[in-house]
Amino acid sequence: MTEPLTGEAQRFATVNSLMSAIAGTGRDARRGGYSRPVYSTAELELREWFVAEATARGLAVERDSNGIIWAWWDLPDRHDGGAPAGADPRAGALVTGSHLDSVPGGGPFDGPLGVASALAAFDVLKMREAAGTLARKRAFAIAVFPEEEGSAFGVACLGSRLLTGAIDPVRALNLTDERGTTFADASRAHGLDPDAMGRDELALSRIGDFVELHVEQGRGLNTEDYTDAAGRGPAVAVASSILGHGRWRLSFTGQGNHAGTTLMTDRADPMIAASQAVLAIRSIGAAQPGARATVGRLEPVPGGTNVIASRVDLWIDVRHPDDAVTAALVTRILEQAQQIAALEGCAAELTEESLSATVHFDASLTRALTASAARTVPGTPALATGAGHDAGVLASEVPTGMLFVRNPSGISHSPEEYVEDDDAATGTAALADALGDLL
Ligand code: GLV
Ligand code: MN
Ligand code: MN
Ligand code: MN
Repeated sequence: MTEPLTGEAQRFATVNSLMSAIAGTGRDARRGGYSRPVYSTAELELREWFVAEATARGLAVERDSNGIIWAWWDLPDRHDGGAPAGADPRAGALVTGSHLDSVPGGGPFDGPLGVASALAAFDVLKMREAAGTLARKRAFAIAVFPEEEGSAFGVACLGSRLLTGAIDPVRALNLTDERGTTFADASRAHGLDPDAMGRDELALSRIGDFVELHVEQGRGLNTEDYTDAAGRGPAVAVASSILGHGRWRLSFTGQGNHAGTTLMTDRADPMIAASQAVLAIRSIGAAQPGARATVGRLEPVPGGTNVIASRVDLWIDVRHPDDAVTAALVTRILEQAQQIAALEGCAAELTEESLSATVHFDASLTRALTASAARTVPGTPALATGAGHDAGVLASEVPTGMLFVRNPSGISHSPEEYVEDDDAATGTAALADALGDLL
């Protein structure tokens, strides 16, 4: 019989009950897994869940002008080292958190694990403060960022990009979802003032350090560099960097026409050009060491079985640690796309939708996270990741670091994404220790 968990171990395990509480929200019967795009019923339900959990813990919850939710654990007045009179008592706070939205048909952990572990880690920190083993020098907050995946409006990390000014708010407000609703209208419908969106100096000045815990999204911790004799990798890693990455829309235009009356020799079919481009993009990516080039979405217009499309849009995701190589790959893709299009009597046009430079996380915060995490997971490794995160956007403004929790499937952005309960609890313990050391 296993011993019942007590004290801090029990609080760390809270991460799993929090995750279970939201396991029914946003399930996608058609795709499998979860579809929780920003402002969907599912995502709004998760936000309500977060607000209720944070409020029940005595945290002061507010939503800022960019739609980011903050749950504040303010500094009690009695502590020395608090803010000087008249200054913002939240300035330079320690902030942790992640996102609640998902890709279409995603896994349960990408995003919510960082939010649930933050709540569970807070429980432990509060317990330590009550026990007199933690004396905070600054305020603490849990942040929940909207539209991290860019699944609805096309640009990932939209909340943190608005906060930092990494996206022009006018451009952000004009982004549209698949129904043609602008981000401005969607934001207004959810109680935000579009005119107030954009770089927020006050909110930024309140982030002293940002730490995001996240499910590991590749095979990073399952490779033989890290696994033991039983083939098991460590439960936790610290992030070293994020590959530079971007999204481009490649549009092929041709002649829309009748599938039955148009001879095969008379066609200017953008679907044919797009199909060849998909293969060319795979070859260009495969020929470049360290590169990833993906077409995960393709839309024929108008999209009918008996209709030769007049246009096909496809979206390309390109990533590489060297930003100059990413740029060169995209140039090569456009050149090939134009050649392919010409042979089919079509035209090709490329539009950049977002671009993020390679991020190297703050060296001293990363060292501190590694030292703290090593108390729970000796020899905590450092991993680069190919996935984008709000932490990567914030890294240009404030010291930022990340913890990754082992994903035995090595699969993410898919229903097969997985985290074992024990690893989630271990990750939460590492997060709580790291936050406690930084507070
Ligand atoms: C977001 O998760 C991304 O890396 O695309
Ligand atoms: Mn993701
Ligand atoms: Mn994520
Ligand atoms: Mn992401």
